Amino acid sequence: MREGKIGIGVIGCGAVARGFHLPAVRRHPSVALLALADVDETALDRAAREFGAERATFDYRDWIKDPAIEAVIIATPPEVTPQIAIDCLQAGKHVLCEKPIAISYEMGRRVVEAAEASGRKFQVGFIFRFNAGVRMLKRWITEGAIGSPMVIRLGAFNEPWMVTDPDHNRRVIEVLRTSTPLVVGGAHLADMALYFASSPPIRVSGVSARTRGELPEDNHWIGVIEFADGSIGKLEMGWLHPIAEADEHRGPYPQVKYPEIEIFGSRGIAWHDLRTGRTQLVRSEGVIQKRLPPYELNFDAQLEAFLTAIREDRPPSPDARDGYRSLSLTLALHEAIRRRTSLEIVQEEEG
Ligand SMILES: NC(=O)c1ccc[n+]([C@@H]2O[C@H](COP(=O)([O-])OP(=O)(O)OC[C@H]3O[C@@H](n4cnc5c(N)ncnc54)[C@H](O)[C@@H]3O)[C@@H](O)[C@H]2O)c1
Repeated sequence: MREGKIGIGVIGCGAVARGFHLPAVRRHPSVALLALADVDETALDRAAREFGAERATFDYRDWIKDPAIEAVIIATPPEVTPQIAIDCLQAGKHVLCEKPIAISYEMGRRVVEAAEASGRKFQVGFIFRFNAGVRMLKRWITEGAIGSPMVIRLGAFNEPWMVTDPDHNRRVIEVLRTSTPLVVGGAHLADMALYFASSPPIRVSGVSARTRGELPEDNHWIGVIEFADGSIGKLEMGWLHPIAEADEHRGPYPQVKYPEIEIFGSRGIAWHDLRTGRTQLVRSEGVIQKRLPPYELNFDAQLEAFLTAIREDRPPSPDARDGYRSLSLTLALHEAIRRRTSLEIVQEEEG
């Protein structure tokens, strides 16, 4: 039964699609999953079995022109994402695209151009924007409860080294061959830093380290951003660090500190714990504590925002330009860190 529903195709049936996007699609009453594509047979079969779809193919171009498919979710590795996004937009599809939208300025710009030329909705999967705790922090900033200039401390230490899952390690190492944790995972942190900051970034610097000699690239990156109003941001991305894998310690990386989302200002310190949903504002007058919904449910809110933009013909948010702003910031940090120097950020003309 798909009367009145928006027909959706999903390209890339790996971890984030199976774990989060496809369950959100299944839970949503107004969408019908019509097609799946993945170049990997195992991933494709597994998703097709678990979620069902009228079509499951290795090549998305087999179904991308089907007019019944109005929208596409792209959850592929970043080196192939931009061309797939451009193909989908040119086929007239609305796109919910995983971050980063690209790993080079050139491809990032091409995605923005294709999105804007298409007249379709293009939303980037900056999932933290749909996190109630992150929104709460933004509200406290806007209301002046934190004070500025701010120190914005963001960090993520996902993609651990898993002795029991060498396939996982292999996939992460593959990503390190074409990019870095800073550009791939750091896309979220850069978007969040830009979302929280009240002024543009003007200078970047930082350091990186390789804690495992066998890796093709540094696995821990610490970037520093200076903003025009004197605020500073710290973006820290660490991959392939050890975790305990015994059953009693399982859970989302319990012994590695979960993403840091902390803001210090003259009036208050605020933080959000992504794992528990605890969100706190500490000020001399007292402490405000909230417990807000956890990470998984953000995918429902993200999908709903995308569908609303389509239904009501409204601009999506975050859009392709947000995707490009985040990419430019991580690429600038990447270059500064590589050269062990600090670089000024020149604002690109937006027109
Ligand atoms: N929003 C989030 O919180 C979040 C979380 C994890 C990953 N991501 C992003 O989502 C993307 C996918 O990450 P993942 O962890 O699911 O990776 P993954 O490697 O588990 O899955 C990617 C899938 O894409 C498939 N693929 C590769 N090339 C393809 C092509 N040309 N056509 C169709 N399928 C193709 C692969 O075979 C694989 O099954 C990445 O860009 C990552 O940065 C976002």
